[in-house]
Amino acid sequence: SMNRLFAAVLGLALVAGAQAAEKVYQVASDAAYAPFEWQDKNQKVVGFDIDVLSAAAAKAGIKVQFHNTPWEGIFATLATGDRDIVASAVTITPERKQTMDFSDPYFEAKQLIAVTANSPIKRFADLKGKKVGVQTGTTGDEVVQKLLGKTSPNIKRFESTPLALQELLSGGVDAVVADNGVVVNFLANNKNAKLKTLDDPSFAKEHYGFAVKKGNKDLLAKINKGLATIKADGTYDKIYRKYFGN
Ligand code: ARG
Repeated sequence: SMNRLFAAVLGLALVAGAQAAEKVYQVASDAAYAPFEWQDKNQKVVGFDIDVLSAAAAKAGIKVQFHNTPWEGIFATLATGDRDIVASAVTITPERKQTMDFSDPYFEAKQLIAVTANSPIKRFADLKGKKVGVQTGTTGDEVVQKLLGKTSPNIKRFESTPLALQELLSGGVDAVVADNGVVVNFLANNKNAKLKTLDDPSFAKEHYGFAVKKGNKDLLAKINKGLATIKADGTYDKIYRKYFGN
């Protein structure tokens, strides 16, 4: 009968609706980047980026699930569809914008130089002729390339920023150039290591954004709507204070 047909169609529509509502967006984070993303003792990916994206997603009515994903190849996971979002303290740059889309900025950062307290290095230009540790393919890598040259054997590239900083502690490199938040966090957690930081006026302001596959306007709009909501209602400020104080 007509009623049965109607009931069947309604049933299918409800199932389809439930499935649509269950879509979980898969998020890539290189979780060796405290305080932005790291793994807690249960291997759970946690941090500032996770809190910000989770809060924005909740306001936008979407579900997100975080996966520790190596930095090398992290952007390729968007193109392949393995991940829907990269939340990994990613600096929005003109070159990256050519291959993926970014949310509105959610954090301002800068490069910072870490050296040992007794180092003769006083400024960025002093890194010429010195061994400098960076995480491969980061904006820190780019900044050092400008000074030393892209193919300089003095640029020591590491797959994670903590590995580069460990190498500074063990004397394998003379300096590390990385995002300020991560360097400051490492120094705070290694107080007896006697490191110090050097700023440089040539370092430009950087802005972190969440990356999605190029053309994924629907997801981007949702993330941006959620971000705008948490910036307006105080949620973002609360998360910011939790990680960075006032
Ligand atoms: N902000 C820098 C960049 O985009 C470094 C980001 C590294 N992030 C990470 N989770 N390892 O190049």
